Amino acid sequence: MSARIKLNDKYLEKFISKEAIAAMQPEVDKAIGYIRNRNGLGSHMLGWVDLPVKYDKNEFARIKVAAAKIRRSCEIFIVIGIGGSYLGARAAIEFIKSPLYNNLKKDTPDIYFSGNNISAQSMSEIQALCAGRDICVNVVSKSGTTTEPAIAFRIFREMLENKYGEAGARERIFVTTDKERGALKTLADEKGYETFVVPNDVGGRYSVLTAVGLLPIAVSGADISALMTGAAEARKEYSKTDDVTNNDCFKYAAIRNMLHRGGKAIELMVGYEPALAVTAEWWKQLYGESEGKDGKALFPAAVVFTTDLHSLGQIIQQGTHNLFETVIKLAPVAFEDDISIPMVDDEQNLDDLNYIANQGLTMDAVNAIAYEATAVAHNQGGVPNVVLELAGKTEADFGYLVYFFELACAVSGYILGVNPFDQPGVEAYKQNMFALLGKADKPGETKLEDIRKALRKGK
Ligand code: PA5
Repeated sequence: MSARIKLNDKYLEKFISKEAIAAMQPEVDKAIGYIRNRNGLGSHMLGWVDLPVKYDKNEFARIKVAAAKIRRSCEIFIVIGIGGSYLGARAAIEFIKSPLYNNLKKDTPDIYFSGNNISAQSMSEIQALCAGRDICVNVVSKSGTTTEPAIAFRIFREMLENKYGEAGARERIFVTTDKERGALKTLADEKGYETFVVPNDVGGRYSVLTAVGLLPIAVSGADISALMTGAAEARKEYSKTDDVTNNDCFKYAAIRNMLHRGGKAIELMVGYEPALAVTAEWWKQLYGESEGKDGKALFPAAVVFTTDLHSLGQIIQQGTHNLFETVIKLAPVAFEDDISIPMVDDEQNLDDLNYIANQGLTMDAVNAIAYEATAVAHNQGGVPNVVLELAGKTEADFGYLVYFFELACAVSGYILGVNPFDQPGVEAYKQNMFALLGKADKPGETKLEDIRKALRKGK
């Protein structure tokens, strides 16, 4: 089995030499050592490393059974979660199926993602879509106390209990949370909801290959066994050699650190397919939350070309030279999925496109040419391009991509010198919000009251 991702450095050579990449080997070795020996920062959160081969087979089978039940009994499936508890599932569904999944699918429920904001408008729109239709809910929260999903779950639980009664709602509510602890676990046990586990040693942003991602992905009709097989292939591929010049996962981790040290502040993930847009959102969280601490890290941003060439193309080409691009270049689409560009009579050739149609160029071929043209132009504009050539858009390709980026993120974070598995900075806004909302301190604590006082004084 050959690698499903190949790093093409054609548009990087001008900025980074092969020798300089090879010189990163000691740093890469140290980072990999932390992962293998489990002695780096945050090493108790390395459960994702072996997930593709070591997962709970009984739970995996239960996920498939629950997904089949949801597909049978629901027209609408609401996935409640935020951050790592939602992005991976949504990325997979848009990647494997389509960003237009709800409009195109035939025999699976419409899937809506809720609890990832506090927008009353968004909630009331989803409520309106639910009217008169059969609903199932999967609430995903490791802590069980995150405000956004907790609010959404209250609302949907009430909706389901009003519609189906408590016993009926029990058949339609699926909980993914901590194995033993937390408010959601307690509620699920009390109510008798079917529960799935977010493993203790897997953080939210590394959890797509657990029930967090797998249940919603399975409901969409995607083959989660194939997805895990793809992830297992990646795990095997990147254990073959530690040579940074031959291991594309480690090479990507090294290159992004080199570019950062060389003065780049932003990594822009580029896709030429709208189906990659949410995958880029997932990647943004993975890298932003894993590396952005201690005053360090590349800012992860994302674009979809050619769409965004008409909005951000100018600044990428000629703006501040503080970014580089990581392009996900998909293999050509299958012949039957491609679209030809129609020829028209000479007098109707007002848009002057007959020269393209004449050559028999398809839409996908023109998209590929747009990629080449853009990479060359951006290179000339001083923007290095790391190109990750991806074999396809199947379940296995997605699983492979997830593992590639997770492993590269851990290696990259360790090279950077941070703990890639914690997110202490996310707490700051939460504490302010709890204080402003009037939440009481735990007995013996004055933390929220102190924050409230400071905020009142405008500090
Ligand atoms: O990656 C993370 O840890 C976060 O994005 C969490 O997944 C997110 O904050 C949601 O947390 P929880 O699953 O506890 O509701």
